[in-house]
Amino acid sequence: MKTKLLCFLGLTICLVSFAYAQLSGASTNSYVCFSCHKDQAKDWATTWHSRSHVDSNPIYKAMINYISRVTYQPEESVLVGCAQCHNPKMTIKEISSKDSFTLAKVLNVETEQTKRIEASVGAENIKDGISCNICHNVEKVNESMNMEMRGFKAVEWGPNDIVYGPFEDDGRAGIHKSIQKEHFTNPDKLCMACHFGGETDSKVELYATGKEFLGSADTSQRCADCHMSTKRKGIITPEIKKPGITAKEREIRSHLFEGARNSEILKDTLSLDAKSEGNNLILELTNLTPHKAPTGFGGRSIDVKIEFKNGANVMDTQIYTLEIVYADKKGKEMVPYLAASIKSDNRLAPHESRKLNVPKFPGATNAKITITYRLVSERILKLINFSDPVFNKNYPVISMDVNL
Ligand code: HEC
Ligand code: HEC
Ligand code: HEC
Ligand code: HEC
Ligand code: HEC
Repeated sequence: MKTKLLCFLGLTICLVSFAYAQLSGASTNSYVCFSCHKDQAKDWATTWHSRSHVDSNPIYKAMINYISRVTYQPEESVLVGCAQCHNPKMTIKEISSKDSFTLAKVLNVETEQTKRIEASVGAENIKDGISCNICHNVEKVNESMNMEMRGFKAVEWGPNDIVYGPFEDDGRAGIHKSIQKEHFTNPDKLCMACHFGGETDSKVELYATGKEFLGSADTSQRCADCHMSTKRKGIITPEIKKPGITAKEREIRSHLFEGARNSEILKDTLSLDAKSEGNNLILELTNLTPHKAPTGFGGRSIDVKIEFKNGANVMDTQIYTLEIVYADKKGKEMVPYLAASIKSDNRLAPHESRKLNVPKFPGATNAKITITYRLVSERILKLINFSDPVFNKNYPVISMDVNL
């Protein structure tokens, strides 16, 4: 009623009051922010933060399906655990009376419990992934080195009509109060709520990006410097004008959360040096990042392909792969989440330089070195029986030709 009344007063107030009603509602979706924060919205939509949900990310769905099949539990039972970081505001945090839930799913009957869980997974704000609200509603980050205390266990959210950010409020936003918080002036803390690490039931470490970063002794660049952008001068939402308030020029960043899929960040992964010495081709790979290369999800890998050639003729091809391989109790390769141990891990440590001595192929006159990145190794794709052009692809990192 109040909203309708205000609408007679003018379109602006109408829009603002409509957005305010949305903003203070329990389900705060990103589209509420889009009309005013177009640049942030445009960037964010290209990132996989915006797709962190079973309905939007096919590999996440396939992985949950695989785990559900091999552990004989409904997909929802697996998903609730993963949601700790992937959908941290999901209302259901744990499935009580798991047996009755499993039975209902097996028999395909609808119960109060199945309805509640499905509604929780499919809620609009949850389908929005790591949305504006997930980050900007974080009032406090509880810093911890404990692998268990990640995702929703690492943060406390404030009331939904408050936006937390890097700046002091100058009263321009109107629609939302904003409060400056240290985890935005130093966003590493916010990133590490989810990106510090995780662990399997057998306490095998997963996704230890933040732990690698803190152990690297190089914190000269923050996560945001490389994955958002360097700071630049700009006015937030210049089209909003309020009498008596002059918009401040701020130091702002992009919202790209740059990764292999939406940016050129892979070009800054490593440097490559190659020279011919006696009977060997000597390669030197240097990790330019303060975390491992590759880092993050356990399926990521970097392939160093060496082609020995005579002129344009390829005589021999060798591939050296940097990756982490997880194993089950019997030592067989397993997806990270069900691993009992780490079988091998030859990824480059933060800033590590590694020399590879490769014997020259007899008769070769030159060599071509091509380094590429995979989001998921071919073996894991085969294991979970999944294929998709985004994931089954080699993304270019760097390449070089050497005369032998
Ligand atoms: C993964 C967490 C995360 C998500 C998701 C996110 N932001 Fe941000 N946002 C940040 C951080 C961190 C900063 C501060 C960056 C800095 O100044 O170092 C920020 C800064 C801002 C700012 C201040 C100006 C600027 O660009 O630096 C605005 C406005 C903003 N975000 C709006 C949004 C909107 C709108 C969305 C959704 C479309 C969104 N954010 C999604 C983390 C996030
Ligand atoms: C009606 C327009 C409007 C809407 C809708 C809106 N904002 Fe804002 N927002 C602004 C303006 C204007 C500012 C102030 C910029 C300044 O002070 O320089 C601002 C500032 C911010 C800041 C920086 C504040 C700080 O303390 O650092 C963040 C972060 C932000 N908004 C996030 C959001 C998010 C998230 C949403 C959606 C839930 C949203 N905004 C919805 C207009 C809006
Ligand atoms: C609430 C948990 C959470 C927070 C906080 C968070 N992330 Fe993420 N991030 C995720 C999840 C989950 C994914 C994987 C999403 C997917 O692919 O479905 C992800 C993916 C990414 C990716 C790969 C994105 C792509 O498009 O390929 C990058 C890079 C990243 N995050 C950087 C950051 C940075 C930098 C920050 C801090 C400003 C941050 N994240 C804060 C949970 C989070
Ligand atoms: C000096 C720049 C730099 C800094 C600082 C940095 N990264 Fe990265 N990051 C990279 C590069 C380059 C890659 C791509 C190669 C790789 O995986 O190592 C990457 C990869 C990633 C990925 C995997 C991306 C994908 O496409 O899935 C995640 C997640 C990530 N970083 C998170 C973080 C977090 C969290 C921090 C802070 C704790 C951080 N990074 C600090 C440069 C940086
Ligand atoms: C401790 C927090 C956390 C938990 C718990 C977690 N994840 Fe993740 N997940 C992340 C982060 C952070 C990323 C992004 C890393 C990167 O980009 O390399 C990610 C990325 C992924 C990816 C790669 C997505 C892509 O788009 O490339 C898959 C698949 C995935 N997670 C599946 C799962 C499954 C299945 C579970 C539950 C069994 C789970 N995750 C539990 C934090 C978590």
